[in-house]
Amino acid sequence: MTAIRKIWIETYGCQMNVLDSELIAGRMKRDGYELTTDREAADVLLFNTCSVRKHAEERAISNAGTLKYLRRRRPDAIVGIVGCAAQNLKEEIFERLPHVQLVVGPRKVGAIPRLIEEIRATGQRRVALEDFDDEFIDGAETLARRESPFKAYIKAIEGCDLSCAFCIVPATRGRETSRPPDVIADEVRRAAAEGVVEVTLLGQTIDSYGKGLKPAIDLGGLLRRLHGVEGIRRIRFITSHPSFMREPIIDALRDLPKVCKYVHMPAQSGSDAVLRRMRRGYTADRYLRLVDRLRERVPGVEIASDFIVGFPGETVEDFERTLALAERVRFQNAYVFQYSPRPGTDAAAMADDVPAEEKGRRNQVLLDLQERVSGEKNSKRVGQRIEILVEGPSKTNPRRQAGRSDTNQIVHFEAACDVRGRFVTVDITSSTPLALYGTWVGS
Ligand code: SAM
Ligand code: F3S
Repeated sequence: MTAIRKIWIETYGCQMNVLDSELIAGRMKRDGYELTTDREAADVLLFNTCSVRKHAEERAISNAGTLKYLRRRRPDAIVGIVGCAAQNLKEEIFERLPHVQLVVGPRKVGAIPRLIEEIRATGQRRVALEDFDDEFIDGAETLARRESPFKAYIKAIEGCDLSCAFCIVPATRGRETSRPPDVIADEVRRAAAEGVVEVTLLGQTIDSYGKGLKPAIDLGGLLRRLHGVEGIRRIRFITSHPSFMREPIIDALRDLPKVCKYVHMPAQSGSDAVLRRMRRGYTADRYLRLVDRLRERVPGVEIASDFIVGFPGETVEDFERTLALAERVRFQNAYVFQYSPRPGTDAAAMADDVPAEEKGRRNQVLLDLQERVSGEKNSKRVGQRIEILVEGPSKTNPRRQAGRSDTNQIVHFEAACDVRGRFVTVDITSSTPLALYGTWVGS
């Protein structure tokens, strides 16, 4: 009997990377590999990397550097860098990390099992980078090995056709490609058959779904289609871009009870001058009008944003416009990033002229504003009865269970047993800016 081989994967960055790692693990399982959390026991070790900010990229590369000693002890182990940093740094990775044998870009992860076999057979390094000849791992062929038995990420779009001046993603993940609705629906049906009750559709600009597909379909149509899948009780989608949030999608959000009333739609800045230089394609006023329309048409909808502070040329006045936008919208949550120049992007040619200390200050001021807003919004939920999907024991207090509401709030409640994967109803009794606390009243 051949011994079961083991694969260890460390994932950095966004949900798309989490899903790619799950798909790699699923595909490798077909080839007889089991996932392990023990590096020492692994035959294949992969770092699924992120390049969005320099810091994220460097962290993955420096962690991969620590495997030098492991490979000296175990020359048969294969170490790979996959994902966005692989695509961005290409063969330079071999110079920086001589013990790495595999470099695979995000659109090529489907080739990993074949490349590993080739490395075993030849002892030679292998590289697979984006060349527009996809080796997508498609759900039709393989099943993700998911972290959660009841929640699933489903890829709806790979890549991005926009060219935000700060962003490296179009260079690492390539052109926007929508997966056909039949393939997505099949994958969702299979996930439901395995016990999944909540799916999250992923795409860099998920609301532009359908580009190039025949017959024509948009995200609204896809949501309507998936709404009919038995067993699925919640459907989420991330990330929305303000330019594509059109009426049929807003109608689907309003009309379909399974579609969660939560829209993650990054504003990035509240200053028109900065938005123009970022090439985001909208003004602050247009963003605000879209938020108003969403709230008018979809009662109870919650909106979240990303912001970049310290973009080239961002003045104190520009930043104050961002604060004003955040104050006016009152986001459910906001993810704030300090601008990090990325090679090859348009913004990298602009002077990175906001000093690090000032970036840090703006970051903190915006986070403080958001914390106050989240605190105020959460305190208004005290006294409400909310249905949540339980995710498992709370990280801070094992006597509590934690879950999420339709609008993505974290809710903690006391429970004597583990009820993960179940929908329960909770009466909210207290709140903090980060979470709601309540009493379990039924399921
Ligand atoms: N596709 C999404 C969108 O439309 O905004 C997000 C893509 S990116 C992976 C996630 C977030 O990282 C962005 O929304 C942005 O706020 C942040 N980000 C991207 N590039 C950055 C950079 N060079 N420096 C700092 N933050 C950055
Ligand atoms: Fe990046 Fe803008 Fe696309 S943030 S992923 S270029 S929408």
